[in-house]
Amino acid sequence: MPSFALSVETVFGDGCIAELGQRAKAKGYKHALIVTDPGIKAAGILDSIMASLDEQGVAHSVYDNVTPNPTVPEVDGGVAAMKDSGADFVIGVGGGSAIDAAKGVAITAAMGGETSKMYLFGAGTVPFPNQRKPLFAIPTTCGTGSEISPAAVITDPETHYKHLMLNCTPDVAILDPNLVAKMPAPITAATGMDALTHAIEAYVNPGNTPFTRMFATRAIQQISAHLRQAVNGPDRPGAIRHMLYAADIAGQSMSQGLGQVHGLSHVVSGRLGTAHGVANAILLSQVLEYHNEFLADQLLEIAPLMGINAHGMAAKQAAKEVVAQVRALRDEIKIPSKLSDPSVGMKESDVAQFVDDAQKSQGIFIAAPKAATAEDLAAIYKSAL
Ligand SMILES: NC(=O)c1ccc[n+]([C@@H]2O[C@H](COP(=O)([O-])OP(=O)(O)OC[C@H]3O[C@@H](n4cnc5c(N)ncnc54)[C@H](O)[C@@H]3O)[C@@H](O)[C@H]2O)c1
Ligand SMILES: [Fe+2]
Repeated sequence: MPSFALSVETVFGDGCIAELGQRAKAKGYKHALIVTDPGIKAAGILDSIMASLDEQGVAHSVYDNVTPNPTVPEVDGGVAAMKDSGADFVIGVGGGSAIDAAKGVAITAAMGGETSKMYLFGAGTVPFPNQRKPLFAIPTTCGTGSEISPAAVITDPETHYKHLMLNCTPDVAILDPNLVAKMPAPITAATGMDALTHAIEAYVNPGNTPFTRMFATRAIQQISAHLRQAVNGPDRPGAIRHMLYAADIAGQSMSQGLGQVHGLSHVVSGRLGTAHGVANAILLSQVLEYHNEFLADQLLEIAPLMGINAHGMAAKQAAKEVVAQVRALRDEIKIPSKLSDPSVGMKESDVAQFVDDAQKSQGIFIAAPKAATAEDLAAIYKSAL
């Protein structure tokens, strides 16, 4: 039977990062390995984190060798940094990439073994690791929900597959809107569409439960109401605060898995390096359109959450309006509408390879709203070109 657990202690509010040091000290931790990326460091986001640790006498070292769509060698580099520094706990600071890399470090450093590849679900020899170093997660984007999710997404650079690493739910998530206040607009846009994708995929997922739907419902409402403002409105700070919490709530909704949008977008990012939220934003409307009739009753429920007046509307019509609304939002926040856009670079000749990758690399299709054949997946990719 399904189960639902809220297992992450979640601290939130303007300035709450100041509590990091005392919270770590209270748990008895002495030395943090901060896992992050160069963009976070350059944005000055580490300053308040280090100041809080310093204030409580908690030592810290920094590993900032993470890139978007983080890879197995990047995780292994972090494990080596953990060993060299003598750190006893991990703090992931950044978007999903840095937090996922931190999760990988926390698992591999605790489990031992030569390489984190051993712990990849679907590719490793130990797909259900059962030990991890203590882990704090501090998101600086409003999208992935990685700070409360049980999985990390790690790319194998040999196959380009994005694999899941499981059993790595953080102990503590710290959501401080001050840390995301200066997030560049294109990152706000892409990560916000990732969060919307989580909530919609969770809502229509056949494994959904009353609990996951409760979170998905609230997340869809909040993201629909605040994402445009967060990207380019006059009240950016207020809207970004809503988005930070909404992305976390969307993360709570995805515990029963995601669907074909993520299954297909992971291949695009694994092969072409496309930002995760951009690939999802392009594919979301296409997957919903492809399964429009099948999903009509559920999209009728989603329509008002997105601000569509669906009163008295037939389900089929509401389902079309939801697709149109997703496209309008994506266009307004200036995300490309096609995978063939030069910034993404997918070609028609890529389709067969990408479908093959999607079918071979994904545990994620288990939760797809409707079973899809290779022909279906190819048709969805082609519709997005
Ligand atoms: N574990 C999960 O549950 C889960 C869920 C969804 C996605 N993901 C994964 O998360 C990754 C994507 O994460 P993301 O979309 O958050 O982006 P990201 O972590 O890849 O970051 C993108 C860029 O934004 C910069 N950045 C982040 N925050 C900033 C800020 N506040 N100010 C300035 N620059 C900032 C980073 O330096 C980086 O260059 C993908 O690998 C995806 O597969 C994981
Ligand atoms: Fe995602």
